[in-house]
Amino acid sequence: MGFAGKTLREKGGVTYAYTDKGVTITEGGQKTEAVIQWMFGAGHQAKTPVLEVNGEWVEHRVSWYAGPNKLSLTPGHSFGTPADGEAALGVVQSKVNAERCFGCHRTGETPGVQCGACHDPKAAHPAKASKEVELCAGCHRAPNPTAVSATPEMDDPMSVRFAPVGLQASQCFKSGTLTCVSCHDPHQPVKANVDVVCKSCHAKAEPAGCAGCHMPKASPTPFLTFTDHRIR
Ligand code: HEC
Ligand code: HEC
Ligand code: HEC
Ligand code: HEC
Ligand code: HEC
Ligand code: HEC
Repeated sequence: MGFAGKTLREKGGVTYAYTDKGVTITEGGQKTEAVIQWMFGAGHQAKTPVLEVNGEWVEHRVSWYAGPNKLSLTPGHSFGTPADGEAALGVVQSKVNAERCFGCHRTGETPGVQCGACHDPKAAHPAKASKEVELCAGCHRAPNPTAVSATPEMDDPMSVRFAPVGLQASQCFKSGTLTCVSCHDPHQPVKANVDVVCKSCHAKAEPAGCAGCHMPKASPTPFLTFTDHRIR
């Protein structure tokens, strides 16, 4: 699963061929090659390569999507045919932007979210980690304090990607004790037993599978599906 061995042909004729190390782009008989230095996304949803080209970081034009197991345009990149092979590599990121990607997707020099992203990295044993939403919101994004919305998913459909935004707009959150770790064990991909959490506050008899009805799935961009965290 992923890029290796796959090819993609854009409508405009540009083709991309991937090995486990890099990409070869063919456009109008010209070949452009690049090594894939960094792969972003653990792969539950998607993977996007970040390439180092002439000393600059380039977010690749093509991403792999786990749902359909296929290659397609990276969200936010333009649909038009790229002018040349270099343009087909992707969008150059400012140094500041690229450092932001690494800031959330890598801990120190190690790819992925490691212990030190949440626990004091200098402590011999994991020091206590905060249970507050702010710890998670540092990467998963917080609501915009100047424009707090009661219905963020309607103001900006992409905001369902940012769990803290929806959660903090929920009536349930306003009760004061609900945090991300109420439902998620930060050491497991996704903790399943949410009903128990709901029932700790809502005693009324309701059918099982609370989240299925009260935390709807949303797909604000092709091939990516998120859980709307505004419980309603
Ligand atoms: C240092 C940044 C960072 C912090 C802090 C952080 N996360 Fe994440 N989290 C990520 C990234 C990046 C991903 C996506 C993994 C990927 O695809 O590479 C992710 C993925 C997840 C997922 C989805 C896993 C899956 O299997 O799809 C959950 C759930 C999650 N985080 C919960 C939390 C919770 C709860 C907290 C707070 C205790 C938290 N995260 C704090 C960066 C962070
Ligand atoms: C503020 C922290 C932050 C920054 C900056 C950031 N990411 Fe992420 N990224 C996350 C978190 C958290 C997730 C998991 C939740 C989600 O899906 O949005 C994620 C998920 C992803 C995924 C998996 C697909 C998806 O949407 O779940 C990819 C691919 C990805 N990021 C690539 C990048 C690239 C490339 C950059 C820089 C151009 C970048 N990210 C910048 C925090 C960040
Ligand atoms: C995404 C953030 C995150 C990451 C990454 C993470 N932890 Fe944690 N960890 C937490 C949070 C939050 C708690 C408190 C959870 C609770 O009490 O429900 C915790 C609790 C613990 C505890 C129990 C002690 C305590 O603080 O209550 C240990 C031990 C621990 N983590 C070890 C690790 C190790 C080892 C790693 C790396 C393999 C790791 N953690 C990675 C967030 C994280
Ligand atoms: C920490 C306590 C707490 C937890 C946990 C909690 N809720 Fe709530 N929830 C509340 C409070 C307080 C309200 C405000 C209305 C009320 O008093 O019932 C509320 C309101 C709601 C509403 C009505 C929302 C609206 O906008 O009118 C629904 C539906 C709901 N909760 C479902 C859930 C589900 C499903 C879960 C689990 C995924 C859950 N709640 C978890 C405390 C909680
Ligand atoms: C099959 C879909 C479905 C499931 C599963 C479900 N609900 Fe609901 N729930 C609804 C609908 C629809 C309403 C609004 C109509 C109504 O009031 O009955 C509602 C209303 C609510 C309300 C607000 C109204 C009230 O009675 O106070 C709460 C709180 C709530 N559900 C909690 C839960 C919890 C907790 C669970 C899991 C144990 C759950 N629901 C499972 C569909 C569902
Ligand atoms: C009331 C329970 C509950 C709380 C609180 C909660 N989540 Fe979730 N979360 C879920 C459920 C349910 C899923 C979907 C799990 C599945 O589909 O297997 C989910 C999925 C996710 C995912 C995977 C991507 C997606 O959107 O499906 C991420 C990332 C995530 N949550 C982050 C967070 C963060 C960060 C917080 C704190 C702001 C948080 N969650 C608080 C119940 C919760």
